Order: sequence, then structure tokens, then C-alpha cells
Amino acid sequence: MGVEIKVDGLTKSFGKQLIWRDVTLSIPAGQVSVMLGPSGTGKSVFLKTLIGLIKPDEGSIMIEGTDIASCSERDLYEIRKLFGVLFQDGAMFGSMNLYDNVAFPLREHTKKSESEIRSIVMEKMDLVGLIGAEDKLPGEISGGMRKRAGLARALVLDPEILLIDEPDSGLDPVRTSFINQLFIDLNAQIDATFLIVTHDINSTRTVPDNIGLLYHKHLAMFGPREMLLSSEEPVVRQFLNAQTVGPIGMSEEKDADELAAEKDLDMPPLPPIPLQLEPSSGIPRRHQPAPGQWCRENGVTPPPGSFLSANAGLAPGA
Ligand SMILES: Nc1ncnc2c1ncn2[C@@H]1O[C@H](COP(=O)(O)OP(=O)(O)O)[C@@H](O)[C@H]1O
Ligand SMILES: [Mg+2]
Repeated sequence: MGVEIKVDGLTKSFGKQLIWRDVTLSIPAGQVSVMLGPSGTGKSVFLKTLIGLIKPDEGSIMIEGTDIASCSERDLYEIRKLFGVLFQDGAMFGSMNLYDNVAFPLREHTKKSESEIRSIVMEKMDLVGLIGAEDKLPGEISGGMRKRAGLARALVLDPEILLIDEPDSGLDPVRTSFINQLFIDLNAQIDATFLIVTHDINSTRTVPDNIGLLYHKHLAMFGPREMLLSSEEPVVRQFLNAQTVGPIGMSEEKDADELAAEKDLDMPPLPPIPLQLEPSSGIPRRHQPAPGQWCRENGVTPPPGSFLSANAGLAPGA
């Protein structure tokens, strides 16, 4: 069914370097959420903190009544069984073929027989479209296939929560579209809570139910996709629409001169909000919001042309 992750007041520094401060959000059960942010803002650190690989300085992370930030190693070991994780590079063992890579968590964490393992591995390989590639070594396949193999491995223990770090890095736009569709199809099938970290704005605009933006050492905003895509908040607006006008500069924040120079420039109008990607089966996901629902319920007029099928998947400004 997926479980909720409730993060409250999370702060993390490495030595004198503050990564982010006071991050507070609830990642809804069973929904697809994306955490967006410029490189180096601590997105990967955030994911690692959620599974207890990194201890925060302050704050709590509640999952099914357990605080990941302060629980015992034993509780952490138990709670980690809820997670499937796909790290940025797929993190495959180079000397093992895909079958053994995918089977690895089952051999490590369960007492299942090899025939049970075989049926689970083949089921997950099928889910990610890798049937026939079982004998390949990670070095022999494309980056897109490696990511799908990593995904199959993240799925073998039937996770309630899937954490996925930059699935689109190093993928061309077509493969990115395929993996985005795979996430939506998987969410429809397994109902787990998905948290995808990315800096790809196209994917962010069309895939998730919720969007968060980490920027300048804090969480600038987190909420339903339509809330962020219709937001006038300068940082959110600039980032989600890939614009140069706004507070974000080439090196994090613009200085006073740069901001003064553009004070008479208007921000371009918000582009239409595209339709959300739907499962390829055509059967709606359990938590799929209706197009325009958030805007209607909150009295927000979406930008002209929003939610038209012709806009589905279009790049901002295209
Ligand atoms: N284990 C660590 N020790 C010290 N600094 C770290 C560690 N992990 C990450 N950092 C630093 O934290 C910052 C954020 O890193 P990261 O989460 O990888 O950014 P992102 O994923 O958003 O690109 C970087 O400056 C990085 O160098
Ligand atoms: Mg990262």
C-alpha cells in the first residue's frame, strides 16, 4: 500500500558545511513525489538520511511510528526492509550477471529457496523489461538497462517505499521517457510510495503527484504538482520553468548588481500545466489526481492552455 514518511525539522551539516536546515514535509503514502534541486543542494544526502545511512543533526523522520533519526540499529535494520533503493549509478556488482545482481537481496535477507528466488527475479526482470538479459554483465549493457536492472533489484523485497536517485542522469530523452513511464506503471501495480530525486524539469513537470524543491540550504516548497507549477514564488517559478530571470544565478544566488540589472525585466508568463503521465494500461493509479483538481479546490486559475492533451509532455516554453 505504501507508507507515509513524515520529516520534521531535519537539519544536516558536514563539519562547518550546512547542507540543509529545518526540512519539514510529509511524503504521502502510495504517491509519486519528486525532489528537485540544483546539483550539490543535498538531494542525495536527503535520500541517504531517509534510510538512516546518514544521521541528521536535528529533526525526526517518522515511518510507521519509528523515528529513523533516533532509533536503534536493530529497529533501523527492520525498517530498512520497507525500502527499495536505486542509487544514481545503479550500483551493480560488476562481476555478477544481472540475474545474480537482482537475486542478491533475496539471498542476503531471506531464506528463500533458489526456485522461489528464480520466480521472483524473473517476475521483477519482466516488470522492468529485461527478460532475456539475465546473463549479461553490467558492463555489457547500456546505462538505461543498468538503471532498469537496479530498479528490478530494488523491487525484489516488495518495498513499501522506493527511493530513486537521478534515474535520468546519463539517459537520452527517449530513454528518460521510457523510465518515467515505467515508474508510473510500477506505481500503478505496486502502490508503493515513490520518491524520485532529479534535476530534470521535464520529468518533474509531468511525472509526479507531488514536487519538492531543495534550494539554498532549505526546502523552498513541497506540495501537489499543480501547486508548484502554478506558483508565483520566484525561486519555484524560475526553477520549474527553467528561466534565467529570477533569484537563481549561475553560481547559486545572484548578487545585488545582477538582480538590479534585471529589475525591469518581467518574468515570462507561466507556461500551461501539462497533463500528468498516466499508466500505459489506461487504468488510473489509486492516488492519481484528476487534471486541474488541485487548482479547482484551491481557487487557483491555472495558466491558459493547461491540462490540454496536446500539451502532455511538452517541454516548458516549447
Ligand atoms: N559523506 C559526506 N561527507 C562530507 N560531505 C558530504 C558527504 N556527502 C555529501 N557531502 C556534501 O554534501 C553536499 C550535497 O551533496 P549531494 O547530496 O550529493 O548533492 P546533490 O545530490 O543534490 O547533487 C555536497 O557539497 C557534498 O560534497
Ligand atoms: Mg545526487
